Amino acid sequence: ETVEWDPEQAGKGEYDHFMLKEINEQPTSLAQAIEGRVDSATERIALSDFEPDTFEDVDSVQFVACGTSYHAALYGSLTLNQAGVQSTALLANEYSVSAPPIDDDTLVIAVTQSGETADTLTALRRADAEGARTLTVTNVVGSTAAREADDALFIRAGPEIGVAATKTFSSQAVMLTLLGQRIAGDLQGEPPADLKSLLPELESMPGRLDDLLASSAAESIAEQYSDSQSYFFIGRGLGFPVALEGALKFKEITYEHAEGFASGELKHGPLALVTPETPVFAIFTGQEDEKTLKNAEEAQTRGAPVIAVCPDGHPAVKAADEHLSIPETEPNLAGLLANVQLQLVSYYAADLLDRPIDKPRNLAKSVTVE
Ligand code: AGP
Repeated sequence: ETVEWDPEQAGKGEYDHFMLKEINEQPTSLAQAIEGRVDSATERIALSDFEPDTFEDVDSVQFVACGTSYHAALYGSLTLNQAGVQSTALLANEYSVSAPPIDDDTLVIAVTQSGETADTLTALRRADAEGARTLTVTNVVGSTAAREADDALFIRAGPEIGVAATKTFSSQAVMLTLLGQRIAGDLQGEPPADLKSLLPELESMPGRLDDLLASSAAESIAEQYSDSQSYFFIGRGLGFPVALEGALKFKEITYEHAEGFASGELKHGPLALVTPETPVFAIFTGQEDEKTLKNAEEAQTRGAPVIAVCPDGHPAVKAADEHLSIPETEPNLAGLLANVQLQLVSYYAADLLDRPIDKPRNLAKSVTVE
């Protein structure tokens, strides 16, 4: 007698798909990412990956990345700007025609899960050729990007099999937030003001994610809105890259139309698309939430159901039609909790449609052509 053994099925463990497994791994992958790198007792970011004062001469930062990694890069860039460091996030495939000026005090950070994305490698090589200092933030030790950049910071998320990036996004965003604090600290000669509150919150993230994953209403929300025409995601500040990422994940695995907007942009055009058939997921991070709520209500007035992604007790809970709950934390991290709820919504929506979730049509895990 022989026993059928499918290595792929075995790898998924108790889950139907790698994506769901990887979503649920986030408490562990985040704990791994920050292990030994954060010291909340002394209020220091260790990041012993780099020598003291490594970044003291950096006068601006350019991030280059694609897809989900670009959304993480945008997240990192916004946190750097908040910490007082000039920074921009650029699509790697646009970089050769749209890069701002570079000099030897420019730090170019390539954000790439695989470390093999052709567009990102081209941007990295261009930055290097123009004399910039380069750094790669990646999941893969020994990848081309890690080898070619001057420095590498590993996100330690563990292998990600699903084509849809999930746990690597949260680890990238957290590591970029930490790196940003470190760059700002080296540059300004003292730890940034945010750091004191950020570190203990960061150490609490794995536990908060456990709570969120154990009680998410994402499956019933996905079911409730499964007949919709389009799915919109809005956010402001650090909620904006999360809105873009929510929409990318949704379209990638459900094949339904989804778009992410900066909350304040709805009224500058996209509002014309809003109908009762277009649910709007509104992400609240604690950065000018009252304005985002007003923007969501403008969509609601046109008949769109609004799903508020915010902590319990937030004013948006009452105003919205539905609620996806996230634990209370600080604005630098709230969007990452919201993102996990949106990952689950996409997953369950795709599952209802019976899509090949781990291998969406026309897509590859690592894109090695320009
Ligand atoms: C997102 O779910 C995709 N897998 C895709 O957008 C991906 O993030 C992009 O191709 C960049 O890949 P990289 O992080 O390996 O460079």
